[in-house]
Amino acid sequence: MLEQVEILLKEVKSFNPKSEKEIEDFRLYFLGKKGKINDLFTIFKTVPKKNKKEFGQAINVLKQHAQVKFDEFKNSFESQEKVERIDLSRPVNLDNLGSKHPISLVKNKIIDIFNHIGFTLSEGPEIEDDWHNFSALNLPKEHPARDMQDTFFVQKNPDLLLRTHTSSVQVRHMKDNKPPIRTISCGRVYRNEAISARSHCIFHQLEGLYVNKEVSFADLKQCLLYFVKKFFGENSKIRLRPSYFPFTEPSAEVDVMCNICSGKGCNVCKNTGYLEILGCGMVDPKVLENCEIDPKKYSGYAFGMGIERIAMLKYSVNDLRLFYKNDVKFLKQFEKSI
Ligand code: DAH
Repeated sequence: MLEQVEILLKEVKSFNPKSEKEIEDFRLYFLGKKGKINDLFTIFKTVPKKNKKEFGQAINVLKQHAQVKFDEFKNSFESQEKVERIDLSRPVNLDNLGSKHPISLVKNKIIDIFNHIGFTLSEGPEIEDDWHNFSALNLPKEHPARDMQDTFFVQKNPDLLLRTHTSSVQVRHMKDNKPPIRTISCGRVYRNEAISARSHCIFHQLEGLYVNKEVSFADLKQCLLYFVKKFFGENSKIRLRPSYFPFTEPSAEVDVMCNICSGKGCNVCKNTGYLEILGCGMVDPKVLENCEIDPKKYSGYAFGMGIERIAMLKYSVNDLRLFYKNDVKFLKQFEKSI
């Protein structure tokens, strides 16, 4: 009897399966209900008492070995199986990828348009000092026009603030570079305003600046018309209205023909046929001087626009807050739109 157990133990020890089927056969042969080990337990009942201990121990050792062998190989075949089931050549499921935010899409499109006509991209800090954000732009302390831009100041240092517009980058760029200058800058700006469908305390602006000899208002108008046609379509028209900004003289606000009614008048454009998109003007000689550029030699134009506003007009979105809600259904609509 013991010899038979010994032979089976050797068989178990030398077992080296090549496939999942072999291991399953092994299980049935040794560990299955009608397998060898169960047979041995049946025989065990008939074994004389004095041999029971020795025989019982031998069967248990055999059973343990068979179980360990089975577990070892079963697991290894299972993990191999899993590796085979992952098809590394399969294309990625593109449905679950994120999409670019509409503000980024619009911003990149505008940057592309201006890059195409020679504008470089420049950057400035979001935490700005008073001089770059206001004083250098002809807005000295106590100037009433400062109230137009409700400002977040840094509590411990009132000379520092969150920039209220990207015009501060104009100043930095003019100080660091000599004309000819042709640059745009783009980024977040901050204003202490109540959040509503039309305004937010954080939004994005894009600023343009061209300084050279003999730059004229006609150059500014042509540049903006080019931009509007590229962005809103070749049939678009613009309209300039005189306005006031402390850093430009003369100044204007630019309207684009309403893309909903094609200039005929509707409730979106309040029956005017036009919608305001940006502010602009000829850089005030005082601003050039503040930035160490000689206004007798050089002149320039500047313009600034709100990206959210442009995006709202482009996509007929009537509530600015939608851009900040991170509602995937809303955001996904724009991915193939530009
Ligand atoms: N900085 C202005 C604002 O935030 C926008 C602006 C107007 C920028 C006229 C300019 C400009 O460069 O020339 O309202």
